[in-house]
Parts: sequence; C-alpha cells; structure tokens
Amino acid sequence: MKLNLLAILLLVQGFVFAQNKPTLIPYPQEVKWNEGQFELSNNTTLFVEDENFDTNHFINEIKFQTGIVLQVVQNSEEATILFSQTNDIKEEEGYRLAVTENSIQLKAKTTKGIINGSVSLLQLVGSTLEVPAVVIDDAPKFAWRGMMLDVSRHFFDVETIKSYLDLMAHYKMNKFHWHLTEDQGWRIEVKQYPQLTENSAYRTEKDGTRYGGFYTQEEIKEVVAYATKRGIEVIPEIDMPGHMVAALASYPEFSCTGGPFEVQTEWGVHEDVLCAGNERTYEFVQNILDEIMPLFPSKYMHIGGDECPKARWKECPKCQGKIKAEGLEDEHELQSYFIKRVEKMVNANGKKMTGWDEILEGGLSETATVQLWRDFHDKDAVRKIAEMGNDVIVSPTGMCYFDYDIVTTDVKQVYNYQPVPSDLAKEKHHHVLGGECTVWTERIPDNARLDFMVFPRIIAFSEALWVGQKQGFDNFAERLEKEYTYLDSKGVEYGPSSKVLDVEILNHIGELKVQAQALIEGVTLKYKKPSSEVFVDYNEAIEVKETGKIIIQGFRNGKAYGDPVSSNFVMHLANQANIELSTAPSKPYHKAGVEGLIDGRLGFESKFSDESWIGFNGEDVTATLTFDVPTSISAIQLRAYDEVGSWIMAPKEVEVLYSKDGKKYKSANKFKTDAISSDGDVLIYNWEGLSKAKAIKSIKIIYTNGGPLPKGHLGAGKPAWLFIDEIIIQ
Ligand code: ACM
Ligand code: ZN
Repeated sequence: MKLNLLAILLLVQGFVFAQNKPTLIPYPQEVKWNEGQFELSNNTTLFVEDENFDTNHFINEIKFQTGIVLQVVQNSEEATILFSQTNDIKEEEGYRLAVTENSIQLKAKTTKGIINGSVSLLQLVGSTLEVPAVVIDDAPKFAWRGMMLDVSRHFFDVETIKSYLDLMAHYKMNKFHWHLTEDQGWRIEVKQYPQLTENSAYRTEKDGTRYGGFYTQEEIKEVVAYATKRGIEVIPEIDMPGHMVAALASYPEFSCTGGPFEVQTEWGVHEDVLCAGNERTYEFVQNILDEIMPLFPSKYMHIGGDECPKARWKECPKCQGKIKAEGLEDEHELQSYFIKRVEKMVNANGKKMTGWDEILEGGLSETATVQLWRDFHDKDAVRKIAEMGNDVIVSPTGMCYFDYDIVTTDVKQVYNYQPVPSDLAKEKHHHVLGGECTVWTERIPDNARLDFMVFPRIIAFSEALWVGQKQGFDNFAERLEKEYTYLDSKGVEYGPSSKVLDVEILNHIGELKVQAQALIEGVTLKYKKPSSEVFVDYNEAIEVKETGKIIIQGFRNGKAYGDPVSSNFVMHLANQANIELSTAPSKPYHKAGVEGLIDGRLGFESKFSDESWIGFNGEDVTATLTFDVPTSISAIQLRAYDEVGSWIMAPKEVEVLYSKDGKKYKSANKFKTDAISSDGDVLIYNWEGLSKAKAIKSIKIIYTNGGPLPKGHLGAGKPAWLFIDEIIIQ
C-alpha cells in the first residue's frame, strides 16, 4: 500500500483524535465522535425535564470535576444543556446523548435512562471545559448489574453505603443487594423483635471487645431513597434458614435445640439454624418479613437459603415430625418446604423471592429467581435453571467473588465474565437477568480494604454487564488506566488490577535467598529485612541471614501498590537436610514442593493458600529428613493448619521418630495436646525433649490425617485436607 503525505497526515490526526477522547466506562453501545466541541462555562444553562432526576447532584459533580457552576433555567428554550424524557427511546435504561458545538441534548424514556446518560456526560466532561462533539446511543446488555455487600461480618455505616451507591451509579450499576443478616451480626431494626438490634447486632470478639452496629428503619429508608436517586434498586437479604445464629442468640426458641447461643465470632458455616419443624418459627419469619419488606420498593426480596447444614434437623423431633406430617422425603425436602412457605410470604407482599442456588435443593417453585454462586458445584447450573424457566442472577465464585484476592480473580478474568452460557438456547436467554459481584467481608474490616477489594474489579464487571467484551480487553485496560485519576479524585483506595509481584525462595546449599519480580509495568519493588525499619530498593535476590520477616512491597506512582508479600523465615538445622515425603502433596496446594517444608519460610497464619503450606487431600504423610553429618538436636517445632470450615482438619496424631543410623527408628514422641499451642488457625507442635539427642542421622515425622469431615459439616464423611509447613529443627 502506498500512502501519500496527506493520507499519512489524516491518519496521524485521526489517531491523535481518538487517543485524546474522554474515558467512557462502561463503554456505550454506539459512539460517533464528531468534529468540534462544546465549551462549558459559568454561563452554561441547564434544564432538566424530569422531576425525579437529582439535578443538584449532577451540578455538584460538574462543579467537583471542573469548577464550573451550571445555571439552572426554567424552560428548555433558554437551556444549552437539556435533559428530557421521550418515548422515542425504547429501552428502559437507554438514552441518546448528543453533544454539538452549541448544545448538549440528553434524551431517555425513564429517569434511569437520564441518570445513565448524565453519567456518560460527566465522563465526557472529565476535568476539562471542552466537551467533544459526539452522539451516543446506549442501553445496557443486561438489566441486572449488581453488587452485594455483606454488612454483617463487618459493619459499614450509612455514609459508606451512600458513597458506594455514588460509585456504583458512576459505572451504571443498578442493583444494590444488601446482605443484612448473618451468624456474626443482625443489622436491621425490627420493631417487633427489639433484641435483634439490642443484642444480635453485637458480638464479643475473642479479645473481649464488642463489635457491631445496625441500621434503624429511618436509616434504611434514607439509603433506599438515596439509591433511588442514583437509579439503583436496593434488594434486602435476610438469610435463612441457615446463617441465623445471631438472631438465635436473642431468640433461641426458634432453633432446634433451644440454645443458648452467642453471636458468632467464627467465620464459616454453623450448624445451628432455624427450626423448620416449629410453626412458631414461620410466625417469626413472617413477622420480620412483613415489617421489613415495605421499607424496600424493590419487587425482589432475597431470602438467602445458602449453606444450611441439616445436622440439627436430623436430630430434632419437631423437624422430623414435620417431615412425616408433610410427607417429605428427607431434610433436603424440608429445606424446600421451608423456602416455599417463605416464598408465599414474600409473594403475599406483592414481591418476588430470590435466593442462593441452594434453594434448588429438594425442588424449586417456578416463580423464584435463583442467584447462582456455586459454579464449582455444577458448571451447567445457569443453563439448567434457565431451561427450567426460572430467572437467574449469575454470581459464580470464580469471577464475581470480590472477597477473593486479586491473584485468584484479576481484572481480566472479571472483564471476560459472560453470564449467558454458550449452550443456552436463544429463546431462554431472557431468563439470565445479569449478574452481581459479591463482597463478603470476613476479611474486609474497614473502608480502605473494601475499596482495595472492590476497585478496580467492579469497573470491569460493569463493562461486562453493560456492553460485553465488544471493545476487547486491551482497549478496556487503556481506559481503566486513565480512570484511576477519577478514582483518586474521589479518594478511592483501589487495589491492583492483577497479581503485582512474584516471590520465589531460592535454596541452594547453604544459601537461602528471596527473589522477587514485579509483574506489572511501572511497578517497582522495595523490601524490608527483619532487623530494618525502612524499605529499600530491591535490585537483586535478598540473602536470608536471620530469623524474621522479609517484606516485599510493590510501588506505583510513588504509592504502595497491592498487598506486601512477606516471607517469614526461621533459620534452623534442617534448612540443609535432605527431605522425602511418603506421598506427594495434592493439587493445587503442592506449589511449595517438598523442599517447602525445610526452606526456612513459614506459611501465613491466616492464609493456607499462601503457597508455603502444602496440602494432602484425605491422606496421611510421612516426612523423612536426613542430615549429611549426624547432628545434635534440642528441639523440634512442627506446624499444621486447622480450619474445618475450609475442609482442613488438624492431624489426628503427629509422631516424631529419630534414628542414629538412618535405618532403625525410635519413637521420640506422640504429641499430647499440652505440647500444642495455636497462632490464628495454625497449630504449633513444640517438642523440647531432645536435649540428650546427639548425632542424629535422620528424623521421621508421621502426620495422620484428621478426617473424614465430621457430622454436620457441609462435606460430612468426605476426606479432610491435611495442611503442613516448615519442620523446624533446632
Ligand atoms: C454464599 O457465598 N454463601 C452465597
Ligand atoms: Zn427443628
């Protein structure tokens, strides 16, 4: 191809033209850039032909972004910016935005459409006074673009909720699913049951402090009204019949055993649930729902339904009586019976019931909307639900769980989220309403961490639901890069978009080193040694010479970026030993390898998945350590993880044997409970009975798997994981 000079000039100009365009996220369906621009000034006039639109908010945002104060006028003739409703736009949330040199016109059928268009206009304006001429024709691909926030594990106040509603609206998200109750706290005032907020809203933490909070009904109304102004529907969730321990702590008469119970401090799934055999339980639920539902104009009521263990129901005479009386097959059908009765209560209030996919168990009514989360349970579940004719909201753990760290679910994965299964027939597509990202807050204690986990992933999620992957990830990533300026202006303490850095422990004979590598362009690394107070530049692998933590932190634009990666080292005699295992570790918890047990690096106390722990699914394991030169030993410390909620059980038994010749072994100790202490979820086995053990050639450690998982556990009877790390020999 031969290009003349003019063509090249036009190409370059076109490129620059496209490069300088404002950042639109989610990208609209159709954008047609034109020549010229509209100049904003303090004389610019605005008329909004929609009483429900929050004009003040829009004016404040324009002022925040540009410093310009728009002049509100009382009729369309005087206005240079005109927002108006028209039936010419067909889609409920759609809009047409036309910017010319002389005017800005936004048209939509509904207030929601006006809100969406006004957000696009805010994005077009950015921080400049020149709004490029453009015509945008836009409407969302999916009607359900939600975020769920768990305010029970950790409580977030009204101001925080409002700031999130603002941010959601800025990315055209339209459903706020408010997860209001849990084992660890009840967060909504119910006047008929005052103990729910006086008592169930607070827990006594392990250190003795009281933690909690709740929303009064007035605050709930305030939030709902605020959300409505932002075009966001609030869907409350009262989770039942499981995840109810906080309520049962005040009203134990609605449990199977009668209690007593404490508002829980342990995360995970708890066995004590509502008694589904007691008629008074249904009254309790009915009274709560009847009081709460009128506070929310949404036509949906979320009743949870997830993770309800059946152990108590199996033993409860009332539950067993109900199973008999109703001709039910088993406890799963009892769950279905419970859910169907609750659905009637919801329907009687003119609302539709939605619940987590466990509501499918034992049979589902035709009218329920299912929120799918267990993609690991059945990868075809969305298709099956839609084929049954039920509506479905798609929140698979693999893409939508923003409590998962960025290493597990990064922005690119979220961007590629597609709620409609490729094998679902076209005529069933309408059953897939859209999706929600879920933010469970067990490990999100405050606003800074909330921002860190939610942003920037929610921005990718909003684009996936609004327009899909039409623009391609690279294009999205470029826009996201520019969007950080906006997030900075709003004080959002966003986290990284993908894994920031890799750390590898190099263990050459006699030389332990930490090697790190930045994985994102523009990220530099610094590190801190155990004996040091300050971070210094990372240039080459760090030699490990002392016991303690080496912390590596990524930095970007002068600010810490992503979580620090800390490696906790213990210098000990086995660092140079040879090691063999009777059984290879099970995937995916095998990455530390066999050497991981003696590399001097300790696994995190709070995170079994940190790649320093190794796991064995259902198996026992024997580790054999051999020294080149017979060695005197005075103490051994072993570590194992204990978190049954994550299917990890402490070993049933740990036995240490030693040998002076590497052939004949003598049992040194089976650990009794008094030799075991704990740090977080880690059990530490201390053995100091070896002061006389000289010239040891080898040591065997036999870990006996703690499984199977106990009665009442979600995985009862299935193999348990055994998780172990460093074998510390002094
Ligand atoms: C859930 O994650 N338990 C719905
Ligand atoms: Zn019962």
